[in-house]
Amino acid sequence: MKDIFFCPEESNFYSNCLENLVLRNCENAESIVEFGSGDGTPVINSLLRNKFEGVIHGFELNTSAWKAANLTIDEYNLANKYIINNSCLFKSSKPQAQYLVANPPYLPAPDPDIYMPLLFGGIDGATITNNLLSLGYENVLVLISSFSNPTSTIEQAQEQGYTVSNFIVLPLKFGYYSSEPKVKQHIEELRNHKMAFYSGEYYFLAGVLFNKCQNNTTDLSKELAQVMTSL
Ligand SMILES: C[S@@+](CC[C@H](N)C(=O)[O-])C[C@H]1O[C@@H](n2cnc3c(N)ncnc32)[C@H](O)[C@@H]1O
Repeated sequence: MKDIFFCPEESNFYSNCLENLVLRNCENAESIVEFGSGDGTPVINSLLRNKFEGVIHGFELNTSAWKAANLTIDEYNLANKYIINNSCLFKSSKPQAQYLVANPPYLPAPDPDIYMPLLFGGIDGATITNNLLSLGYENVLVLISSFSNPTSTIEQAQEQGYTVSNFIVLPLKFGYYSSEPKVKQHIEELRNHKMAFYSGEYYFLAGVLFNKCQNNTTDLSKELAQVMTSL
């Protein structure tokens, strides 16, 4: 199991964001696409705690994680609500859905040769997140890290016609993956270029709900940018 993403604090936060920013607003049988399901626990826990009538289609490239997720899905009889493909969302024919949700790979590094290459988020850490915002989904919930060029993500969202309708911020300690010397040194360099924001051992992780709704009067983009660059 060593090769499966493991960070309960982060996964629980993602699960809470899913519940509070997405599942509780779903009144009909909405469909949801998830990028990077991991071992599936965040979605499974949310499904067990909430009444959700729709279907979640996950995508997970890591075969060990995908297998582990399916075992738990079967254990809780959720096979009709949570279906995971062992493939990459970007390379598949994208399912139609009201929501795209993800705790995406966001580690910045000079190259993908890090503890877990599938957590590589491109040189500034924001590449996959920003690509997720170009797929055209109406509502997108993504976790954004303050050390992964957060400003570029907020700008990308604006360019794609999204507003920030809500967000939740968690101060998080650098963990096993982000403390890898190669990653940490790279983050320090990004900080000199105002592309990474952290203070001591802490950075911010935000669960952000973007949507394309034209008559959305509240856009919290400025507030989000302010918080994410404040450390
Ligand atoms: C930060 S982890 C999140 C896992 C889980 N959602 C959680 O919060 O515990 C990101 C996940 O994305 C997966 N991943 C990375 N690139 C992917 C891709 N192109 N397609 C599908 N999954 C991918 C990784 O294997 C990893 O499990």
